[in-house]
Amino acid sequence: MDGTLSDAPSLVTSAPLTGAPAIDAPSAGARPMLAMTGIVKSFGTNHVLRGVSLSVAAGEVVVVIGPSGSGKTTLLRCVNLLEDYQEGTVTVDGAPIGYRIDPRSGQRLRMSERDIAASRETIGIVFQSYNLFPHMTALQNIVAAPVRVKGVPLAKADARARELLSLVGLSDKAQEYPVRLSGGQQQRVAIARALAMDPKLMMFDEVTSALDPELVGEVLAAMQQLARDGMTMVVVTHEMSFARDVADRIVFMEGGVIVEEGKPDQMFFAPRTERVRQFLKRYNDRYRI
Ligand SMILES: Nc1ncnc2c1ncn2[C@@H]1O[C@H](COP(=O)(O)OP(=O)(O)O)[C@@H](O)[C@H]1O
Ligand SMILES: [Mg+2]
Repeated sequence: MDGTLSDAPSLVTSAPLTGAPAIDAPSAGARPMLAMTGIVKSFGTNHVLRGVSLSVAAGEVVVVIGPSGSGKTTLLRCVNLLEDYQEGTVTVDGAPIGYRIDPRSGQRLRMSERDIAASRETIGIVFQSYNLFPHMTALQNIVAAPVRVKGVPLAKADARARELLSLVGLSDKAQEYPVRLSGGQQQRVAIARALAMDPKLMMFDEVTSALDPELVGEVLAAMQQLARDGMTMVVVTHEMSFARDVADRIVFMEGGVIVEEGKPDQMFFAPRTERVRQFLKRYNDRYRI
């Protein structure tokens, strides 16, 4: 891990920037930052999510694991309506995303596109492919959305972007174009770019899977710092050591349902289902964790 990260100030910006206390660790009965209830999603006859309910407390880090095709990506994409779903509801910090329930009829009503766009801004999402704008520097990539979408004054957005670059260990790369950055550096810019919108929730979908092995650690270190600072996070990953170290809770998905969830130690060392035991055995054998 890059030692500069651990000394950095908080990455979480829901409070004032400097010297802000981290959000309290999750505790029993804490209000959920993310609540997904009964999400059902099919692509034609392919039933991808079969009623998934997942609640994530403020400041909690939930790592989602499971075999390829189990619906992990689709679940994340449903949260901010990149993917439409047929049943269920999502709230972030108590506010409905995408659909609200009509109190009179109990019907699920789709919100206006404008409201959906506004609610998306509260959720940061980072994918395996970082998709930085190639014609913009690292700094410009981070500044673009706050200025254009939120109307943040350029000077303020610029200052915040530099702070975020420093926090992901890339202060010296502000003026570089993506093509001159390594995959790990680009992915850290992508994380900074998502943070620049001041999200309440960050979701990561296999963000290290496309990286050369020696670049994985620097990205995980940035995510670990974010977790320490109290960001609410949902992380899909195959990095089991990271999952064990950073997760407050691990959720195992297969076939569009949550098969088992629990604390990392329980999941790794005393899984309740044979399926999870089998799935994790591969990793335990390989890494001796
Ligand atoms: N855009 C799509 N159109 C049709 N089927 C899709 C689409 N996206 C995902 N699927 C299907 O949904 C299932 C779950 O995929 P995904 O959510 O990507 O799983 P995971 O991320 O766990 O590997 C797979 O059967 C996949 O083929
Ligand atoms: Mg996926």
